[in-house]
Amino acid sequence: MDSGEIAARMRVAEALARDAGRLALDLRTDRPRLDIRRKGPQDVVTAADVAVERMLVTALRSRFPGDGILGEEEGGGARPGAPCWVVDPIDGTSNYARALPHWCVSIALVIDGRTEVGVIHEPAADALYAARRGAGATRDGLPLRIGRTDDLASAIVDVGYSARTPAGAYGALVSDLLQRGVGVLNCGSAALGLARVADGRLDGYAERHLYAWDALAGLLLVEEAGGRTRPFLDGDAMTTGNETIAATPELFATLVDVMSAHRP
Ligand code: IPD
Ligand code: CA
Repeated sequence: MDSGEIAARMRVAEALARDAGRLALDLRTDRPRLDIRRKGPQDVVTAADVAVERMLVTALRSRFPGDGILGEEEGGGARPGAPCWVVDPIDGTSNYARALPHWCVSIALVIDGRTEVGVIHEPAADALYAARRGAGATRDGLPLRIGRTDDLASAIVDVGYSARTPAGAYGALVSDLLQRGVGVLNCGSAALGLARVADGRLDGYAERHLYAWDALAGLLLVEEAGGRTRPFLDGDAMTTGNETIAATPELFATLVDVMSAHRP
């Protein structure tokens, strides 16, 4: 696919991410009908996650019938060899369900095993993050530049956690970072955490296991903003997920070392 066609798909993703964010906000106001259910420990899904994903899948399928779609809730069907949309309708569902503002819509486009487009919409700030491989990353049209923190004692890193991985290893990882002087947060949306790294508000994001829909759009934002990332899409990571590390060039090696030291 040539760069013009990829750019056209990116514009569609930007418009859909905004529509999806608006729909999620509208549904959020009707709390009794949110139908919050637990998928596992600290892992919730709401009726809005499903409704927003259905809207995205329907819109993408009608515009690009030959493309595959991989979504967090129901999917849409990957197609071998075809471009694949990777969609997280609401990343940070636990925050969303509690009316905390840190959640987003995340849409990535993968072609031949590489993420070519990443779009994240943050409804609470009405901010749109977008990146195309080789063409840079923006927030609301303005170029994003990674932070320049090189001193651990000034760094703030978002370290995500899910019950898919052992709690003890997470505790050891956080403790190690704290002892090195790093400030540690767990804000509850991997995609938005990665976007915050891309725009320089955070210095790194790390999580032992994420799915492709949580990670791909945000990782491309970080790369295109000048940051470093651990390669995500190796082996069968597109379907089973992978470890995720992203940081400023100065802090990346330290984050990789600490993550390796506490691998469960
Ligand atoms: C979760 C969030 C969270 C991360 C989890 C993800 P969800 O996705 O990104 O920050 O730590 O690993 O599963 O459930 O809010 O879409
Ligand atoms: Ca998610």
